[in-house]
Formats: sequence, C-alpha cells, structure tokens
Amino acid sequence: MNRLLTLKDINVSNKKIIVRVDFNLPVNETGEIIDDTRIKFSIPTINYILERGGAVILISHFGRPQGTFVESLKLTSASKRLSELLGKEVKKLSDCIGDDVKRTCQKMKPGDIVLLENVRFHTEEEENDLLFAKELGSLGNVYVNDAFSVAHRKHASVCGICRFVEKAVAGFLLEKEIGYMNSILGSKERPLIALLGGAKVSTKIDLIKSLFQRVDELLIGGGMAYTFFAGLNIPTGKSLVEQEYINTAKDILLQSIADEKPIYLPSDHVVATFVSEGADTTIVGKKNIPGTQRAVDIGPQTAKKFSNVLKKASCIFWNGPMGIFEIEKFSKGTSEIAKVLAELVDKGVKTIVGGGDSVAAVAKLGLSDKMTHISTGGGASLEFLSGVEIPGLSALMKK
Ligand code: 3PG
Repeated sequence: MNRLLTLKDINVSNKKIIVRVDFNLPVNETGEIIDDTRIKFSIPTINYILERGGAVILISHFGRPQGTFVESLKLTSASKRLSELLGKEVKKLSDCIGDDVKRTCQKMKPGDIVLLENVRFHTEEEENDLLFAKELGSLGNVYVNDAFSVAHRKHASVCGICRFVEKAVAGFLLEKEIGYMNSILGSKERPLIALLGGAKVSTKIDLIKSLFQRVDELLIGGGMAYTFFAGLNIPTGKSLVEQEYINTAKDILLQSIADEKPIYLPSDHVVATFVSEGADTTIVGKKNIPGTQRAVDIGPQTAKKFSNVLKKASCIFWNGPMGIFEIEKFSKGTSEIAKVLAELVDKGVKTIVGGGDSVAAVAKLGLSDKMTHISTGGGASLEFLSGVEIPGLSALMKK
C-alpha cells in the first residue's frame, strides 16, 4: 500500500477537483442549519484549491434518504451557507450524475465551485456501485477526500470513485483528523488517559478494548458503567445493563488488575425513578442504587475523582457523556468534566473529543473552541480508534 497523499502533493491549477465533503448537518424542524461546523472546517481545502486556479466540484450526503429524492434532504441550505462563508457563488446542481451535471462541470473555469445534490439520493452510492462511481469520477481530474466522518463507509463517493480519477488524495480536514487519531493510537504523550461514556457498552466494545491496550488509565462513566458494575456483582437497580456484555466487561476489569492498569468507575451516582426533567434525583454511594431507581449521571464525588485523575494526563481522549446530558437535571457530571478538560488545555494538556454526543455536550457549553481538537467524525473516530480498517483511507492509499 502507498503512502497517503495529501492536497499539497498535487498540482490543482487548471484542474477540476472533486472534493468529498460532509455537509450532513444538524437542522431544525424548518430545515435551518443548527451547527455549520462541518462547512466551516471544509473551507481551508476549498480555498486552497480555488486560490491556486482549480475548480471545485463538491460531493456530499445529507441524512439517510436510502436512494430516493427527499425534498427536506436537498443540499440547498448547505450551499447557501457555504456561499456566505466563502463570499462567492456556490452553484447547487439538481443532481449528482446525468447529462446536465456533466455539461455544467465541463464548462467550469478556474475558481468556479459547484455543489452536487445529495449523493445518497441514488442507491448506488451506498452500494459502492462502480458504474456510479465512474460517473462521479468522470466529472473531474483529481479526487480529494475531506470527509473523515464518512471515511468508515464503503460508499461510491468515498471508495469506488478513487479508481476512476488520475489521483486521489486527502484534504486538510481529513489529514488533520487522521493526525489527531494517530496521536492517540501511537501516543508519545504520557500519561495518556481515555474517558469513555455514553449509554451502551455494545456499541463501543472494540473501542474500549483497543484503547485499553494503549492508554495508561481508563475512566468509564455514563450508562455503560453499569454493565461493568453488574460484572462486579454490584447492585445497579434499574440502570441500563447489557446482560450479554457482562462477562466481557468482567474480563476487561480482570485484565486491568492483571496489567496493573487502572480502570476507574463511578464512586457515586445521581439516581432517578424516571428519565424526565421533572424527575426527583438523589445522590447515592457506589453500592447503594435502590432497586426501583436508575443511574442518570455521575455523582459529585465521581466528578471530583475523575477530574483529579484527568489532571495527571498529558493527553486525553474523551468519548461519550457521563449521564443523560440532554436532560438538564442529569447533565451536571458531563458539564463538570467538559469544564475540567477545557481548563487543562490552558495548562498544556492535549484534549481530543470524539463522538457525536460528547461533541454536542461540549458545543452546548460553548467550550468547543477550548478543546485541542473536536472530531467531526462520530462513528468514524470510534472505528479508527478501534483499530479496524477504514475503507475510505484504504481506497486513497491503494491509488
Ligand atoms: C455522520 O454524521 O456521522 C456522518 O455524516 C456519517 O453519516 P452516516 O452515519 O449516515 O453514514
């Protein structure tokens, strides 16, 4: 396999450059964009090409339309926002393949930019159909993947397309994301500490195993902690426990003892009978969750203990909230941790936040700019750190 080439390795002048971006943005009920981070992060790559006399053909998906045209999943708002941010016209085409698209792309001049319509309006995208990939690839000369967040998807605009262009390289955002992810996997900055949360162990088991091999200490909060408590025969009340993962959780804890590598679990919990804003909450000790209640957040003692552990780190990776943070009453633990991470950056600690919910929690607190790196890839960052093959990167490197 070849080295991963990046945008700086190629000449873009007078070329038509196809750039795979991810404009899969959160929107409200009326379709307004709530968070345009992914558009903002794509701008360095776009400007680099435009400033050097290349023409840019953007490809993106939006939502999961499963091969049908869905009015609300058109990329119209994204193209308007991009146009505002670039201060120049971004022409949004009505499809991503077909004669009209081909004609428009053929006529493009250096400095022009178009955005193709949602590539997932065609089933062939998710099937990695090679004829479809060829048609996409025929629109330009060079392909740039700048969508880390879909690099784990074996789709036509991510993988297949690489076979049908002169060159396939990584854009600046993809390059940056890989750099941060690699800095966790091969971290020379010690101590390296991972803080994992979120509801389920099942969705993150490979990540937990992979990170456990690499980090110096591991902190586990959120709903997933209760499957570990079940593995220790500690009462969990009505907390979320995934029965089929209890033994795996137990094995990981036993391994931590054998390796003398600490795994920290919550030492107190916020519990409630119902998951709702109006629910009454109580703080209970590690082994005292009542049978009728469930844990909804880490308690204050845990927040303090976790903070003290994090303060020893040189590099921290955080994925997953510490409680059901969408409900204000249950969000304190997650907020405390986010604030500690932001403070640690000022002291020179590298903090990398990956995964949808923890990124959303940090954004809600207005702390995104305080972190060293906020990954744009939820599922992609988890797969990367789990050590599995990332099809989008393999496709670039095979070119
Ligand atoms: C994301 O939002 O994580 C990416 O855009 C990938 O979307 P997908 O999970 O629908 O492939």
